[in-house]
Amino acid sequence: MTPETAKKLKAQGHTVRVQSGAGTRASAPDEAYQAVGAEITDAAGALGCDLVLKVRTPSPAEITLMKRGAAVVGMLDPFDRAGLERLAAAGLTGFALEAAPRTTRAQSMDVLSSQANIAGYKAVVMAADRYQKFFPMLMTAAGTVKAARVVILGVGVAGLQAIATAKRLGAVIEASDVRPSVKEQVESLGAKFIDVPYETAEEKEAAEGVGGYARPMPPSWLARQKVEVAKRVAQADVVISTALIPGRPAPTLISAEMVQAMKPGSVIIDIAAGRGPDGGGNCPLTVAGQTVQVHGVTIVGETNLPALVAADASALYARNVLDFLKLVLAKDATALNVPMDDDIVVACLVARDGQVTRS
Ligand code: NAI
Repeated sequence: MTPETAKKLKAQGHTVRVQSGAGTRASAPDEAYQAVGAEITDAAGALGCDLVLKVRTPSPAEITLMKRGAAVVGMLDPFDRAGLERLAAAGLTGFALEAAPRTTRAQSMDVLSSQANIAGYKAVVMAADRYQKFFPMLMTAAGTVKAARVVILGVGVAGLQAIATAKRLGAVIEASDVRPSVKEQVESLGAKFIDVPYETAEEKEAAEGVGGYARPMPPSWLARQKVEVAKRVAQADVVISTALIPGRPAPTLISAEMVQAMKPGSVIIDIAAGRGPDGGGNCPLTVAGQTVQVHGVTIVGETNLPALVAADASALYARNVLDFLKLVLAKDATALNVPMDDDIVVACLVARDGQVTRS
């Protein structure tokens, strides 16, 4: 909750409590919440409310401070079965916002989009900071500087923002994705799409994905994609990888050999850090939470890029939460309302009445 959304909840007639210091690192001090009528309290005071708004799922210690029958809204990780079972066992009603469908009506509460957009932006800014050359082509009195070559792997929300940001900085960009619908979006942003044609009906069907998300591709297509991507990565100055498959490990797209073939001084920002096989990312050499140097290549394994743009990440996330609350808080009502005929509410509901409600 930001002071902006606290004010709106207050105006709706709710009592609003904020754990002291919750917003400090996102430029929202306690006084900013107090100024809009929120009460500042300790962890027990905040977690003991009827409705708890969080960023991540509550820890086991936090759950002990929560009331049976209370509700929690946040990024509760719908694929973490053990976590959902903990919520259910504590008698909590849980809404995991990551599970919202990718539909027009759900757009304003789409936390994956609001945060991935920030991650894509920050990845490019971070790459520009780590890279020891310019991004734009420059003609100076001391000679010409070539534009940086940027390769983006995975062009969902983060990848598209990474393209847009790198473009503004003047880089030359190529991008790869499994989903064919992406090609036009990539080209409309002024980047080149790395085409890997589908050769079988199975490849074509897998590439269509499900609900807008990618599915694992057949090995035959992945092998051809690897050849095409390897050529581009060898020439790249910066690689930003964002490829994810919901509920599965992130695909390996930048092999150790590909890193070895890169130029010294190149930078990889692996947004999938910590989500690939064995805790790596789209690159097996990525170390989650760390920046490593391999053969002169810098690999950044930052696992929470939005947190590095904390004020705007919070502002957008809090608005997502507020929009979701419109579905479950009837106007001026004190009780939670769970309309089971609302596809967004049903998709986000992960625990209720002691049961995990997600298969
Ligand atoms: P994501 O974060 O799950 O994955 C990132 C990207 O990685 C995706 O584009 C995916 O196709 C790609 N990927 C997966 N495996 C790959 C591989 N082996 N090689 C290359 N790329 C690979 O995706 P995100 O950003 O959550 O977007 C998912 C979809 O949802 C997109 O189609 C997006 O346009 C759509 N969307 C729709 C919205 C709406 O209509 N309300 C709102 C936001 C997103």
